[in-house]
Amino acid sequence: MEFPVTRMRRLRRTEAMRNLVRETHLHPGALIYPLFLCPGEGVRREIGSMPGVFNLSIDEAVREAQEAASLGLGGLLLFGLPETKDAEGSGAYADDGIVQQALRAFKQQRELDKLVMIADVCLCEYTSHGHCGIVHKDGSHYEIENDSSVRLLAKTAASLAKAGADIIAPSDMMDGRVAAMRDEMDEEGFEQIPILSYASKFASAFYGPFREAADSAPQFGDRRSYQMDGANLREAMREIELDLAEGADMILMKPAMPYLDVIRAARERFQVPMGAYQVSGEYSMLHAAFQRGWLEQERAMMESLISIRRAGADFIVTYFARDAAKVLG
Ligand code: PBG
Repeated sequence: MEFPVTRMRRLRRTEAMRNLVRETHLHPGALIYPLFLCPGEGVRREIGSMPGVFNLSIDEAVREAQEAASLGLGGLLLFGLPETKDAEGSGAYADDGIVQQALRAFKQQRELDKLVMIADVCLCEYTSHGHCGIVHKDGSHYEIENDSSVRLLAKTAASLAKAGADIIAPSDMMDGRVAAMRDEMDEEGFEQIPILSYASKFASAFYGPFREAADSAPQFGDRRSYQMDGANLREAMREIELDLAEGADMILMKPAMPYLDVIRAARERFQVPMGAYQVSGEYSMLHAAFQRGWLEQERAMMESLISIRRAGADFIVTYFARDAAKVLG
């Protein structure tokens, strides 16, 4: 049936009609809000390249978390800026590490039970060299060691589970980390804590602003020997397969907007819950355009989020989580 019998515009005529036939929906419960925790008290330090995003001391983070809960957000993704850094990233798995302390503080607030507390697991915020694993240096040549890094990452996962994390989310991209974390957590009695693996994580320029927020820029070299090459979709599917085989319960795709095709491919292939991370650079880029009046803030924000859901993500990690939840009402 063609025109004039078929007229696609019939179903677009009113807002009510458009609401009725909408295929993809956003709801606050599917939005995860990242927090950057730092030492001190009363600290609320805005990130230059990320308007509206802050380094927060734990007391301030509790306040932020309460607002997130009252907005109906799905959860928080926690990153830490430790007091001091060292070559082994020991702040990541310290009993009194910054994220461990925050988790304990959050667990004392009843109303925060509505939020899923997701702990990002990586060493880059905690290492003096800013790499996600242990660095082995041999003259001018260096190597990010896989297996010794995995041992520390597994220790970190168990430590965060012990402090009260509801979900463990490894973002380091070392081989074999999911299996090692599952082992270590099971051994320590946290067999009920799921793993959300950043299975498909590309070496991306769009993480730039995050590295300011988390103070985690590599001091030399880059992350291309462990994060994936942005040109590779088949490899992304293999990464996901392997992480699932190692015991990942869910997967996280990252970045989101420049990789929507990868999200779609994963959706079609895998039956597990899948999130996508609208990363710092995606947020900063939009904000830069908002500031110049080049894009309409609310509409561009919502369109970017819907595109990620439409590509197939069940939930979205986004710095827009609070703003979007307010729009969704
Ligand atoms: C830690 C980590 C990074 C991000 C999430 N976890 C940075 C990186 O890999 O360099 C990026 C998130 C963002 O850009 O918003 N490895």
